Amino acid sequence: MNWREQLSIEEVIAWRRHMHQHPELSFEEVETANYIYNVLSTFPNLELSRPTTNSVIATLKGSAPGKTIALRGDIDALPIMEESDVKFPSLNPGVMHACGHDTHAAMLLGAAKVLSGMKEQLKGTIKFIFQPAEEVPPGGAKAIVEAGVLDDVEYVFGIHIFPKLEVGYIGTNVGAITAGQDIFELKIQGKGSHGSTPELSIDPITIGCEVVSNLNNIVSRHVGALDNAVLSIGQFTAGEVFNVIPDSATIKGTVRTTNPETRKLMKKRIHEVIDHLVHAYNGTYELNYMDGYSAVINNEEVIEIVRGAAKTIVGDKQFVNPKMMGSEDFSAYSDVCKGAFYVLGGGTEEEGCGYMNHHPKFKINEDALAIGVQMHTQIALDVLGK
Ligand code: NI
Repeated sequence: MNWREQLSIEEVIAWRRHMHQHPELSFEEVETANYIYNVLSTFPNLELSRPTTNSVIATLKGSAPGKTIALRGDIDALPIMEESDVKFPSLNPGVMHACGHDTHAAMLLGAAKVLSGMKEQLKGTIKFIFQPAEEVPPGGAKAIVEAGVLDDVEYVFGIHIFPKLEVGYIGTNVGAITAGQDIFELKIQGKGSHGSTPELSIDPITIGCEVVSNLNNIVSRHVGALDNAVLSIGQFTAGEVFNVIPDSATIKGTVRTTNPETRKLMKKRIHEVIDHLVHAYNGTYELNYMDGYSAVINNEEVIEIVRGAAKTIVGDKQFVNPKMMGSEDFSAYSDVCKGAFYVLGGGTEEEGCGYMNHHPKFKINEDALAIGVQMHTQIALDVLGK
């Protein structure tokens, strides 16, 4: 594949840097989507559409009928003040491409440019999905699925870039690659009193402490050791001063699982434990439990396609299993069609890329961009090439 004849990697780097300098938050990617649309407009053979707010879909029909596949890149940024040492930092203070979605969009533009020039060699259809709002549930993928974009798609592929993994490495696995994430907010209503008279109170802090320690027991006592579940409390707020027992306490947490049955079990046990404990101490409560993204489940048949392309592009050995408890709204696609989500090495600590996604100093090695473009392109050619 002479992709370099179709595309200079400097172009991909320039697109990436432009988007890096002009990051926009989830559901606000107006200029980013317009930019992507305008770049795509300069490529031949693409039909462009905007089926949901701030999404752009480019459809490329090959010269003969065949399968339809989708390649997805997300485009949103995060509410983070950039502290990386790149020469092209965010010009939008407080907003940063700290998850590398700028690279995802740029690599997908690169693949669209290469493949749009290869129409004659393709049988079937490629949909390039530029998706907004990956970072904030309900996510942008759900609306794209509801708009019918995936209805005729047989396989869907998505890349995520990761620092701390050497450029040239690809990682994926069959089955769950990310966790499903649900969140909850609990308000415990007690009765305040002076700190000298706890007997006159219903102490929401004491109840909250019992709740936190017992919620942690759910994972250790109800989930099998070979299964995956994480429960973490991220916020516990109560009280104002040292000698007053407050009226109420608020606790917020996240629950991550990779198995739908375990997800249901966690939800049920969390409700039960909270209900019993709060009532045991005569308190009342409001619990708001919100279902987030489901786990991304990679399909074996599609993972074989990714493995094959990785073998061609980076060789056989540079393959890792990245299974993680992070979450991703790519699950909206892989829930309705056969999907493969894989990670792309974005550079190691030695290359100056030692900060994880969502860190203010997050940075990637741009040599990874060429690998991502080639992976998208190779996958498309392996499935649809004549
Ligand atoms: Ni991300």
